[in-house]
Amino acid sequence: MLDQVEEINAIIVGANGGIGQALKQNLANRPNVKSIESFDREHYPHFDITDPESFSPTFAGWQQEGRKFNLAIIATGALIIDGAPPERRFAELGAQNMANHFALNAIGPAMMIQQLLPLMPRDEPAVIAALTARVGSIEDNHLGGWVSYRAAKTALNQIVRTASIEWTRKNQESALLAIHPGTVDTRLTQDYAHPKKVSAGIAADKIINCIYNAKPPMSGGFYDNQGKRIPF
Ligand SMILES: NC(=O)c1ccc[n+]([C@@H]2O[C@H](COP(=O)([O-])OP(=O)(O)OC[C@H]3O[C@@H](n4cnc5c(N)ncnc54)[C@H](OP(=O)(O)O)[C@@H]3O)[C@@H](O)[C@H]2O)c1
Repeated sequence: MLDQVEEINAIIVGANGGIGQALKQNLANRPNVKSIESFDREHYPHFDITDPESFSPTFAGWQQEGRKFNLAIIATGALIIDGAPPERRFAELGAQNMANHFALNAIGPAMMIQQLLPLMPRDEPAVIAALTARVGSIEDNHLGGWVSYRAAKTALNQIVRTASIEWTRKNQESALLAIHPGTVDTRLTQDYAHPKKVSAGIAADKIINCIYNAKPPMSGGFYDNQGKRIPF
């Protein structure tokens, strides 16, 4: 869909993160990308995705100006919040840490999608992608642990699915996707060894290809970076 679009005006939320930076670089090299808005704490120092008041006035202003984006990627998130490592056992679960995960990894992206939707075109191809995680798959959970991060990403997948249904009614050329980026070498994974960890540049290329090839029937789904469905 987006590969056929003449001009892409993109916004990357969390463009200063490991994957966010690589996504920005990758998009900058695509011939049909006209502009990229980096919505992150470097360019908008007061931005905090857990606080909608820190970003909704900017988005409302853009709406009034008639600004449009036809691609948005939400690349914020964290595995360790306030120094609390992901739980290895259920006994380590803490209410505050779990609430922090929901605020950052689920509610924040939900409120961001709410602000992004009015900035997307009607009746023209448009994609919103939120970076989720394979560990948010309920069916694929055979290891246990990491309950707060997992559950927040599971919630994000449901948020994406729900918002996609409404968006499709308004724009049949839209796709709202939950994408697992792969295991990527960034600050988020620096304390975790993984045999399949790849560079952010390699992951970004796959993610952008997946986004460019997305079609409306894919909307609301949960995908790996090759566009292959992951079970919910
Ligand atoms: N790396 C992986 O292997 C992997 C695997 C599965 C899923 N993911 C998902 O991919 C996404 C990106 O991860 P990454 O690996 O690129 O991590 P990263 O390098 O740590 O980047 C995280 C991004 O989130 C931003 N952020 C964190 N808290 C924020 C807040 N309260 N308000 C605004 N921005 C905030 C960071 O901004 P600051 O730099 O300003 O803090 C940064 O831009 C996350 O959703 C993560 O769960 C990553």
